[in-house]
Amino acid sequence: MSDYTPKPEHKFTFGLWTVGNPGADPFGSAVRAPLSPVEIVHLLAEVGAYGVNFHDNDLVPIDATPAERDRIVADFKKALADTGLVVPMATTNLFSDPVFKDGAFTSNDPQVRAYALHKTMRAIDLGVELGARIYVFWGGREGIESDAAKSAVEGLKRMREALNFLCEYVLDQGYDLKFALEAKPNEPRGDIYLPTTGHMLGFIATLDHPEMVGVNPEMAHEHMAGLNFMHGVAQAWEAGKLFHIDLNDQNFCRYDQDFRFGSHNWKQAFFLVKFLEDVGYDGPRHFDSHAYRTEDAEGVKDFARGSMRSYLILKEKAARFNADPE
Ligand code: GCO
Ligand code: MN
Ligand code: MN
Repeated sequence: MSDYTPKPEHKFTFGLWTVGNPGADPFGSAVRAPLSPVEIVHLLAEVGAYGVNFHDNDLVPIDATPAERDRIVADFKKALADTGLVVPMATTNLFSDPVFKDGAFTSNDPQVRAYALHKTMRAIDLGVELGARIYVFWGGREGIESDAAKSAVEGLKRMREALNFLCEYVLDQGYDLKFALEAKPNEPRGDIYLPTTGHMLGFIATLDHPEMVGVNPEMAHEHMAGLNFMHGVAQAWEAGKLFHIDLNDQNFCRYDQDFRFGSHNWKQAFFLVKFLEDVGYDGPRHFDSHAYRTEDAEGVKDFARGSMRSYLILKEKAARFNADPE
């Protein structure tokens, strides 16, 4: 009998926003009760995850006072200590607040761009305080609905200026932190700049500190663009830039479905797991997906367990594939 029990060495991680997703969509409101960050940490420990990731405002609400922030962070640290979960990655929410409606680093408004940098520096401090060594940048609002609104070249320049500045910030602070850029072709913008992992890799080479910056490819994002995800991952790996990975699933060329890893495109998932295991990728395996909207609180645990179990089943099948010359 095979053992599909998740273990720390598998480095399975989930974001607070994934298992904590209450099931709201653009057409309907939440269907599940919200969970606090501390409750999510305990849920993840119960199902056997290794780590938990967060956006600044998943943990600390954007309007929290300094005293509230300190209390929330202390409670979260205690939950981590009680469960043994770690925080490998952190990131910034630069998309929910209405001020970011036209982008954060690429907004046409210089005050918004300055605020986005300030918010990110504080979020980096928070992530590092909780142990993160990888910092993800997903530019959800960095794009356009109409190219009449912004110059695409200017958008790239603003993005570069922001990342160069933030690399200097990390160096000045003496943090042991790498950046991982996450591409997505669209949603929530009509078009998002740097839409694929390949675009990101080309862009990284133009930065002042390319050695500090890699990618966080997401399976669903490349599938939205109709691409072979594993090929993008392989290119990132071969360039020494696979710093993190977002595992999930979705039908090709649809809206952002965020299905559970291994629930839809089994052949793609199999060759992806085979690739990661064959090359010895040893970073976090982060499940960036949601339980179906039809699931209740228990179903969310099944969803989390199923994400890891699917990975381990595919890992076993990859070993069988490699061992079978025929
Ligand atoms: C999405 C993205 C996000 C990012 C997250 C971390 O489609 O919404 O995948 O979930 O991964 O913001 O950077
Ligand atoms: Mn996504
Ligand atoms: Mn993602």
